[in-house]
Amino acid sequence: MTSLADLRKSYERAKLSEDACHADPLRQFEQWLNEAISAEVPEPNAMTLTTVASNLRPSTRVVLIKGYDERGLTWFTNYDSRKGQELAGNPFAALQFHWVELERVVRIEGLVEKISAAESDAYFHSRPLDSRIGAWASPQSQVISGRSVLLANAAKYAAKFLLQPPRPPHWGGYRLKPDQWQFWQGRKNRLHDRLRYTLSPGDQAAPVCQPIWIRERLAP
Ligand SMILES: Cc1cc2nc3c(=O)[nH]c(=O)nc-3n(C[C@H](O)[C@H](O)[C@H](O)COP(=O)(O)O)c2cc1C
Repeated sequence: MTSLADLRKSYERAKLSEDACHADPLRQFEQWLNEAISAEVPEPNAMTLTTVASNLRPSTRVVLIKGYDERGLTWFTNYDSRKGQELAGNPFAALQFHWVELERVVRIEGLVEKISAAESDAYFHSRPLDSRIGAWASPQSQVISGRSVLLANAAKYAAKFLLQPPRPPHWGGYRLKPDQWQFWQGRKNRLHDRLRYTLSPGDQAAPVCQPIWIRERLAP
């Protein structure tokens, strides 16, 4: 059996240089996300979301990015879930993409807000019917007595709403507005490339149209 201590990999696929990197981290993210999609890595849109409860205990889970633009990165969930409750108490969060096959990681930190009801409605109604019923059927993060609870709930709401389930009030989108990005490219001999973009302090309080990002190289 392979010992965990002997499991190691040399990262040699690519490099990340200041010259080749976009000045705007959103453009850099867009490029890497598109490359991950083109490379057909599994679930390129899956990102780890970390929140911190008011007792300072962190928790982490995977969610799917559903959109991004200069306002931030968006995902959808149950507002009453553990992550929802933690974000209500502490709106700072971190996201991480790990595109294993490309030997790349993107880490993003910032403040999270709920998106507008109209935006959540628009995405909710674009989802398949089973997913829309599922949003009603699952009291996400709550203890249930068995799987039968979910199946009974799904049957109940399918019968109640037929083909037109409205968006549940407890379900919708969040958007994280980045104030820090990090791009990691694995390199040989553990001398990886890491570029961090930090929003210039002046921009954090009152973001201007053209945010100023400070780019620095971090030791791996
Ligand atoms: C690939 C993948 C994608 C997921 N996408 C979402 C998502 O977009 N929204 C969501 O609420 N949960 C998603 N989940 C489930 C979450 O990881 C998690 O189990 C759930 O949101 C409850 O988390 P919480 O109790 O910490 O709030 C996904 C799980 C996986 C493995």
